[in-house]
Amino acid sequence: MRFTPSVVASAALLSTANAAIKGFNYGAQFNNDAAKTLADFEYEFNAAKNLPGTDSWTSARLYTMIQHGTQNTVIEAIQAAINTKTTLLLGLWASAGQESFNNEITALKAAIAQYGTAFTDLVVGISVGSEDLYRISADGAGGNPGTQPDVLVDYIKQTRDAIAGTSLSGAKLGHVDTWQVYVNASNNAVIDNLDWIGMDAYPYFQSSFANGIGAGGDLFFDAYNQTVAATKGKPVWVTETGWPVSGETVNQAVPSADNARIYWEDVTCKLVNDNVNLYYYILQDVQWGNPSPSFGIKPGGDLAQVSPLFDLSCPAAAKNADPSKVIGNGYVAQLSPTMSTVFVFDVRPEDQGKTCNLAFHMPPASPWPDMSPVKIRSPGGIIVSSVGQQAASAEISANDVGSSNFVGWVPSIQPANQYNIASVPCAAGQRVAYQIESTGGLTMDFFQMTVPPLGLFMSVS
Ligand SMILES: *[C@@H]1O[C@H](CO)[C@@H](O)[C@H](O)[C@H]1NC(C)=O
Ligand SMILES: *[C@@H]1O[C@H](CO)[C@@H](O)[C@H](O)[C@H]1NC(C)=O
Repeated sequence: MRFTPSVVASAALLSTANAAIKGFNYGAQFNNDAAKTLADFEYEFNAAKNLPGTDSWTSARLYTMIQHGTQNTVIEAIQAAINTKTTLLLGLWASAGQESFNNEITALKAAIAQYGTAFTDLVVGISVGSEDLYRISADGAGGNPGTQPDVLVDYIKQTRDAIAGTSLSGAKLGHVDTWQVYVNASNNAVIDNLDWIGMDAYPYFQSSFANGIGAGGDLFFDAYNQTVAATKGKPVWVTETGWPVSGETVNQAVPSADNARIYWEDVTCKLVNDNVNLYYYILQDVQWGNPSPSFGIKPGGDLAQVSPLFDLSCPAAAKNADPSKVIGNGYVAQLSPTMSTVFVFDVRPEDQGKTCNLAFHMPPASPWPDMSPVKIRSPGGIIVSSVGQQAASAEISANDVGSSNFVGWVPSIQPANQYNIASVPCAAGQRVAYQIESTGGLTMDFFQMTVPPLGLFMSVS
């Protein structure tokens, strides 16, 4: 049998393909008030790109343009973003009065002058302010300093003036705040002056609601839906959300890594699948201190060395998949009694008259199970079916797989094996789709990858 890399490389999982922005929030200083430097920001941006089970967490939301501890020097995160090809949601701190806002504008203009398009090409948006309306609201318990809506509107105008005629003039302006302020009509003038709306929502903090982890997803999407309804059709970006890994219980919300994983699956994975721009809170928040609650995906220590506290992969058999996205390596498939994954292959026209062989490959067990690209959480086998819907342009969703025809099965998946599932005449020039389902209780997830081969492959003989 001839192993055909070009066919292998066209294997595509139907989900996880998406175009939306994925990133994290990045503060300007550590817990001991030491400023993050160029090396620190680079380290963080690179760590975000290399999180196991994820791809393309390559955007950074900043809270300020100013290097911590200086008056108006450009924050070193800008150079780090250029060095690491990280896109930027810029932030202008807007809760400390006009003079301080002037310093933000000075730093913004300095960055444009200093770095030019190397910088401005990376900018996906600018947020004028962060939770300023929350801090003056009843929910924020008047916990000033915040900013009145009319002052924010003025800052938004000042920002538009500052970027006019520069290479940043096309930047989309938004504001970040808690979802509650957007449903408060007193803040409508702010919404009217924005290109997009940044929403922060934390079910953990919603102490007047039944906010156990089981309700986390519903509380979040209720907040999101209310924000969408209140913001007049403007795009809503999720600029902060997360579930703490440690800290105090708030009403029914219990911080733990296990609960953060559940929240990740219920909220993060759904937002990713729905192509909503997302900045998760947060990659790491415990450096040089012990915040409580802590929302960090990674514990303290060397970011490049410490493992995430919970699994970051997303169920692959999800909705709104984009089959036109062709992928080779690094996409996560998830199999369990409730989750299946669909794979598509583009069969080349020149394979007319040949035989296409479907095989499932398992690499040898890894000496480092935590680092392994495949995790079998509960043993069992797989059932492979061809999926009726083969239209190249159609979107296939979990509910839309339609009729499927059994093509083969493996009763028990073991490391270091190649399982030949079926050999069929090649559907030359067509896109074909196969669904893998779990049987016998199998729960596993893996990255489809070619070296060593792992996942479902089609070869031609
Ligand atoms: C509604 O918004 C206004 C203006 O931001 C604020 O003063 C007021 O406290 C908010 N109302 C509530 C109930 O939070
Ligand atoms: C949010 O809106 C979507 C789309 O209308 C709906 O399917 C979903 O059930 C809503 N979620 C909540 C929690 O209200």
